[in-house]
Parts: sequence; C-alpha cells; structure tokens
Amino acid sequence: MGAFVKIVIASICVGYVAVKWNRPSFDPESLRGARVLVTGASSGIGEQMAYHYARFGAQIVITARREKVLQQVTEKCLSLGAQKGLFISGDMSTESDPDKVVDFALEKLGGLDYLVLNHIGVTRFAMWDGDVDHVKWLMKVNFLSYIQMAWRALPSLEQSKGSLVVVSSLLGKMPNPFTLPYSSTKFALNGFFGSLYHELAMKKSNVSISICTLGLIDTDSAMDKVRGVTNIPAYPATEAALNIIITGATRQLDLYYPWFTQVVTLIKDWFPSMINYFIQNSYNYIP
Ligand SMILES: NC(=O)c1ccc[n+]([C@@H]2O[C@H](COP(=O)([O-])OP(=O)(O)OC[C@H]3O[C@@H](n4cnc5c(N)ncnc54)[C@H](OP(=O)(O)O)[C@@H]3O)[C@@H](O)[C@H]2O)c1
Repeated sequence: MGAFVKIVIASICVGYVAVKWNRPSFDPESLRGARVLVTGASSGIGEQMAYHYARFGAQIVITARREKVLQQVTEKCLSLGAQKGLFISGDMSTESDPDKVVDFALEKLGGLDYLVLNHIGVTRFAMWDGDVDHVKWLMKVNFLSYIQMAWRALPSLEQSKGSLVVVSSLLGKMPNPFTLPYSSTKFALNGFFGSLYHELAMKKSNVSISICTLGLIDTDSAMDKVRGVTNIPAYPATEAALNIIITGATRQLDLYYPWFTQVVTLIKDWFPSMINYFIQNSYNYIP
C-alpha cells in the first residue's frame, strides 16, 4: 500500500474518532413528554421509531396510509409507555394530506417538539425504464411532501426549540443503479434540507435539523427488493431507528448509520474509479 493511501486512511480514522468523541451525550429523559410526529410509521424504521419514542415516554402522533396498521402500532406504543398515542392516515402524494397531518398533530399535541420525516412511496428496484410520471409521483411523496410538512411545522418548532429530522439514504449521496427515481428524491432532500440548515443557522433559528444517511437496513420492504441481488450487509431497523432518535434529540446535523456509510461518502470523490467498480460489482446483474 502506498504512503499516500496510508496517510489518507489514517486521516479518515483519526477524523472519524475525533468526530465520535465530540458527540453530545443523549439524555433519555429529554424525550419524556416530548411531542413527536413520525411519518411512515406503519412499518419498517418508522414503526421502530414509534416504539422507541413510546419507551422514552413521548407523546406521539404517527401517520401512513394504512389505518388498521396504524391503529395496531398506536396500541403497542401506548402499552410500551407513550404518554399519548394518536394516529392519522394520510397519502403523501396528495396536495392536502401533508398539511392535514401536521395540523392534526399540532392540534392534538398542542404543538410539536419533533417532526420526523421518514415515509417513502413504493418504487421498483430495477433499471430505469423511462417512466417520467413515476418519478414525478415519487418526488411528491418522498420530497415535496417533506418540504410542505416542514414548512407547516416550522413556527411551532421555532417556539418549542424543536427539531426537524429527515431520514435520507446513502443513495442520496452516491448514485447507484436500479434506484434512479428513489435516489433522485433523496438527493433532492439532502440539497433542500442541507441548504435550509444554513438559512436557519444564519437566522439564528431555534430549530435544529438532522439529516440521517442510512445504508441498507433490514426492513421487509428493502429486503424483498435486494434479496438475491446483492450481498451488501443489512443492519437492524430497530438500531437504525434508535440512532435517528438520538441524533434528533442531541440536535446533531448528521447521522451516518452504519458507520462505514460516512467513510464511503468521504472517499467516493477521491477514488471514484474504485468506488464505481465496487458499486457495479456489488449487484448480481446479467445483461
Ligand atoms: N430500509 C433501508 O434499507 C433504507 C436504507 C436507506 C434509507 N432508508 C430510509 O428509511 C426510511 C424508512 O424506510 P423503510 O425501509 O422503513 O420503509 P418502509 O418499511 O417501506 O416504510 C415506508 C412507510 O411509508 C409509508 N408510505 C408509503 N407510501 C406512502 C404514501 N403515499 N403516503 C404516506 N405514507 C406512505 C408506509 O406505510 P403505508 O403503506 O401504510 O402508507 C410505511 O409506513 C425511508 O426514508 C428510506 O428512504 C431505508
């Protein structure tokens, strides 16, 4: 291994340890009674976040489209210790539901301390087939509804010194095959909320923004897509969910989970050929 590569790897390791060392500590008590809205909470990471918030004694509103499932998740939240548990169904591809859901949470909880934007629309894991309408639709669900809800909740978050938590993906930082529409929506999220972070800081706003970059997580919907297609390791949804919550509660800008997603993000611009080779060879694809 050349001296330059060794120095680069050593610098990344030192930088990584320094960043981890400086992380503020998490006080679970800070979430007792916190007023939280979690989107996409009928399954996967959102559902796990709802259960964690419940164990911390938060007041929770959850949303997604399937009312029956939301009801079951809410009942479990109450049994786990949530101070309040409410649900409202909503379809984030519509014009009106993003506002309707935020208004419901504001009214029922008397304001918000955390808005956790996590939902995603269903999309295929396949090569791009030219379906522009699908990209437009997915942009509505995965991106436009996020900015609509954030804008609606900002005055309340400003008042409560609250937090806006955005669940994004490594695929919003690093282009990959088979996920073009999804990846585009996640790049858009990173661009918008990364820029909003600067504007809020310049306005000396009380609101913190956390942008969570996740690698492959073992939710049913993700595993159904990649099973047999890639050997990239999948990490537990419950641990991803807890890390997202802690990142929001400690008002940190970034989460990279699992940890190596940060390393990949850092080195992708320095060694593009190596990363591109790795990406193209990590999927079983026969033309
Ligand atoms: N799993 C991974 O490998 C992975 C990796 C990186 C990032 N992430 C990110 O983590 C977050 C959660 O992913 P996940 O794997 O947990 O997803 P998931 O299990 O598929 O859950 C998606 C949630 O969104 C809801 N939803 C779907 N369409 C909707 C619509 N039109 N309007 C409102 N809600 C809708 C679903 O409920 P209903 O069907 O009831 O509406 C469900 O609650 C996403 O932001 C995703 O991009 C996941």
